[in-house]
Amino acid sequence: MSEGKVISFLNMKGGVCKTTLCKEIAYYLQKRGKKILVIDIDPQSNCTQSFFEKFGVDVLDQNGNIRRDIPSIQKLYDLQLVDGKEKDVILTLTPYLDLIPGDLTTVFMERNSNSTHEQKLLQVIKRWKLKERYDFIFIDCPPTYSFYTVSALMASDYYLVPSKADMYSLLGLSLLKDVVKRFVTVDQPVLMEGRNLQCIGVILTMVEQSEGMKQRIKDIKKFAREENIYVFENEFKYYSKLVTGSLSTFIADRNDLSLLSFIENVSEEFLERIEKLNGK
Ligand SMILES: Nc1ncnc2c1ncn2[C@@H]1O[C@H](COP(=O)(O)OP(=O)(O)O)[C@@H](O)[C@H]1O
Ligand SMILES: [Mg+2]
Repeated sequence: MSEGKVISFLNMKGGVCKTTLCKEIAYYLQKRGKKILVIDIDPQSNCTQSFFEKFGVDVLDQNGNIRRDIPSIQKLYDLQLVDGKEKDVILTLTPYLDLIPGDLTTVFMERNSNSTHEQKLLQVIKRWKLKERYDFIFIDCPPTYSFYTVSALMASDYYLVPSKADMYSLLGLSLLKDVVKRFVTVDQPVLMEGRNLQCIGVILTMVEQSEGMKQRIKDIKKFAREENIYVFENEFKYYSKLVTGSLSTFIADRNDLSLLSFIENVSEEFLERIEKLNGK
């Protein structure tokens, strides 16, 4: 088996389906026999809540107190690497799916840019040989350029950008590319060790059915071609039922063929993209 790949789900905006796509593609791929680790590095921990609800992980003990024995990313940052144990950090959900949960009990401290902390994720991926054990490691990033994002990018081979299909998002995209480029070439060239953090592509999300939208997507694709950014053929349509949906409901559990086939198709397109980028 070739080495696993680490992928950040990245966009400095919130509400663009980062978490939704991260958990849904992860869930689909593990059912398809890929070994997946999801890392929830967003202090809002939406991804964690979603997996906890789905897999019945209780955050409270019998007395209604917050359990301290659930693995979490907080423990990764607290522990001294030498004594660090995987079982304090990695939670197994299915034979093919593991999760490094966010911490639901405390608000993460906003850390100063302490480089030892920023490198921790990268270090445990190496130390615990995680790339040898997983096909894909997905990192669900927060919508800010923060300690957490730096930590995620430092550990990543690729990034994937869910984005709404509007002009502002378009400009944001080009900015994001510059930020990543600067990160690789100026800020962290040594730690990146030749991983040049390629963009797998943009997945357009919340796409509504209208003539105006069709034209906008045309414009976006033209712009993306000029900027050398890949845009996924599979667009994530706007579904009003997802706005109000319960966290624990995964698309695989819904009786909605169009949603199901979207996740299937976008996941397969993701695999094709990775293969293509790896082949280079
Ligand atoms: N295709 C969709 N159509 C409409 N709403 C969606 C869709 N996908 C996700 N949502 C909802 O939009 C909100 C934001 O999505 P989320 O994935 O949490 O975004 P992000 O992680 O980028 O902040 C969530 O409430 C989610 O349920
Ligand atoms: Mg999110």
